[in-house]
Amino acid sequence: MRAVLTAGPTLEPIDPVRFLSNRSSGQQGYALAAALADEGFEVTLVSGPTVLPDLAGVTMVRVETALEMMAAVDAALPADVFIAVAAVADWRPSEVSAVKLKLDKSAMASLPLIENPDILKTISRREGHARPSLVVGFAAETHDVAAHARAKRIRKGCDWIVANDVSGDAMGGAQNAALLITPDGEEAFPRAAKAEIAAQLATRIADAVRA
Ligand code: CTP
Repeated sequence: MRAVLTAGPTLEPIDPVRFLSNRSSGQQGYALAAALADEGFEVTLVSGPTVLPDLAGVTMVRVETALEMMAAVDAALPADVFIAVAAVADWRPSEVSAVKLKLDKSAMASLPLIENPDILKTISRREGHARPSLVVGFAAETHDVAAHARAKRIRKGCDWIVANDVSGDAMGGAQNAALLITPDGEEAFPRAAKAEIAAQLATRIADAVRA
């Protein structure tokens, strides 16, 4: 059984010293990669910049930008399972300045952006052998968690969504609570250490792939 995961933030350069990014720590994605390796999966983890050490027994691919993450996922596939845990920046600066931008008002009044590829949607929409048999997305929501996650599952075309309530400290924190949305319904994973949530999810994923 082969699994490919994305984790962490992406970092989108503006100029040689500045970038757009987000507060994802990568902890939940790394915990899930480790738990899948424990379940017997051959795991490739495509990670944005994090302070976390490489995982033993997991093929690590370190990237910075969403474009690099998309290319690394393509290079790591095919797999039985693709799990998108990364907090991919939806937008990137349309041009990366080779020199440090001067912070005069005209230069920084607007920053033109272009959309990044949606990695989860791209993989979900592939057909035949190019699509892993199980594609799982993550959703960070602060309110109406189940309704938003159900809509996201349809919009992305993935099989499952793991919804996290990030109204507390889930982003960067050590604990998490999750709601798993499948075509058949919902399963709650009560608030616990991210490693514990990861172990439960990995078992559920391994059962689904074996079936
Ligand atoms: N994702 C991705 N590539 C992107 C954006 C998101 O693979 N360019 C994946 C994430 O890894 C995660 C899921 O899509 O699995 C999150 O969906 P996303 O659209 O990022 O959620 P939000 O940005 O929170 O969307 P919305 O504001 O519509 O809720």
